[in-house]
Amino acid sequence: MALRNVFGAIGIATLALAGAGLMPAAAAAQTAPATPAALAGVAGDWLVVPRRTPDSIAIGGIPRSFRLTVEGGTVKGLFRFNGWDYPIANWVARPDGHAFDLTGKPPFVKMRARATADGRFMDIWIGDEVVGVAPFLARRVTATELAAIERSAPRPDNMTKLPLPAPRDLGVRNLAPVPPMGWNSWNVFREAVDDRSVRAMADVLVRSGLRDAGYRYVTIDDGWQGQRDAAGVLHPNAKFPDMKGLVDYIHARGLKVGIYSSPGPVTCTGYVGSHGHEAQDAKTFAAWGFDLLKYDWCSAGNIYDTRVEMQARYQIMGAALQATGRDIVYSLCQYGLYDVGSWGNAVGGHMWRTGGDSIEGDLWHAVDYRFDHNGDARDAGPSAWNDADMMLVGIDGLTPEEYRTHYTLWTMAASPIILGNDLRVMTPAVKAIVANPGVIAVGQDRAGVQGRRVAQAGATEIWSKRLADGSTAVALFNRGAAPAAMTVDWRSLGLPVPKRVRDLWHDADVPAAADYTVQVPRHGAVLLRAS
Ligand code: GAL
Repeated sequence: MALRNVFGAIGIATLALAGAGLMPAAAAAQTAPATPAALAGVAGDWLVVPRRTPDSIAIGGIPRSFRLTVEGGTVKGLFRFNGWDYPIANWVARPDGHAFDLTGKPPFVKMRARATADGRFMDIWIGDEVVGVAPFLARRVTATELAAIERSAPRPDNMTKLPLPAPRDLGVRNLAPVPPMGWNSWNVFREAVDDRSVRAMADVLVRSGLRDAGYRYVTIDDGWQGQRDAAGVLHPNAKFPDMKGLVDYIHARGLKVGIYSSPGPVTCTGYVGSHGHEAQDAKTFAAWGFDLLKYDWCSAGNIYDTRVEMQARYQIMGAALQATGRDIVYSLCQYGLYDVGSWGNAVGGHMWRTGGDSIEGDLWHAVDYRFDHNGDARDAGPSAWNDADMMLVGIDGLTPEEYRTHYTLWTMAASPIILGNDLRVMTPAVKAIVANPGVIAVGQDRAGVQGRRVAQAGATEIWSKRLADGSTAVALFNRGAAPAAMTVDWRSLGLPVPKRVRDLWHDADVPAAADYTVQVPRHGAVLLRAS
């Protein structure tokens, strides 16, 4: 759990990394002693760089680095991560990869590193088998370069515990009567998000008709932050030259705008967080005109250890947002820890993530996982949404059938639907999935019921969701690798034999009889509306 906090929500899907053989499995198998040459190859200073642009320096967050020296025949040094130092211990050099431990809070054992043949880069895997492993790419730099980069980086303050308020129920204003829909920058841009790309997404939402289909929130995720000034006011980095202008531009297009921060001093990607500056930052966000805040635990996990502490840190920002007087949807992102559904509303939250990041690792695995991890349906309702994380529809790694299954599950689970794909290059097929009005209506149903699994046989399952007009949405899911014939027997599901049954993905009526049998493709879904 601590790893998740420190290293960001390393998705459950990342677990697949180890299994997929992406981690060098060498360390366990190899026993050859360290050669001086192997040690010399890793000694030096290493800067973690974006994999897609390895020659750049970190874009604006706190640099992450390794400083490695050879002492007494072994490698010693430090991993500097988002402002915290982790001394390296037990370095074991092997011809095809190195193993080491990170001490500090929390400690990480059996990490892996492997330098590229030319000695310029090093692949490093940090994490553990339980919550996932994050792969980093580091580039060799000189000590002088690293020192200069660190000097010019944002300096977070408040890196130790601050006083906690007494718990109280802030109550929640009904700003999200149905699950929020929109787009978020993280899945496609990560830290490269900038003013231009966000404006472009707003334009596409309008032009494509997606805004009118219901997608209203455009959220800037991690990577917009610059430095605090002498008065502590947080400013955007150079990629966002005019935040107010950007927000106005998006508002003028009939959309709402979201922003991102962390209750820790640092976000998951090393940008400045709101720890100790909550009231100030809430005012800044309100003054810029934001309508939603995604608040991501991240480095708060380096400081706080208990549910009481976590709840208090979320309460502080919840109260700060309410005090601005602006309607700001409060989106909690703490990966579903500590039964958040039972206290999310009390800290002023409107939605809360139920797990790690779907985008990391095997995408089908990430979707499939949500069948069993959706938060407690009893916690869900207007302005209280279990958030299954941003959408993977339109992102490489899933088939069209899997996109539909993903969308159907999120809809049945009354999750917010926050697109994560590059809307500018969305194919007509992808658009048809995310803009299907009958399907959207099920997700946006004003009764706000989170659907549940009502029948299960092997890899197939049936979910049902009661809708405001008295009809019922019924989804047939096939999680298996082969097609399956599935039957809905209305009475055995406790439902009357319907007068009309509509297949929403095909936008066509199907026979309204005592039961209905349909072939469901592998990893596929059928969504029916029975009235
Ligand atoms: C993760 C979060 C992601 C994204 C990322 C940004 O913790 O779960 O959705 O916001 O941080 O660094």
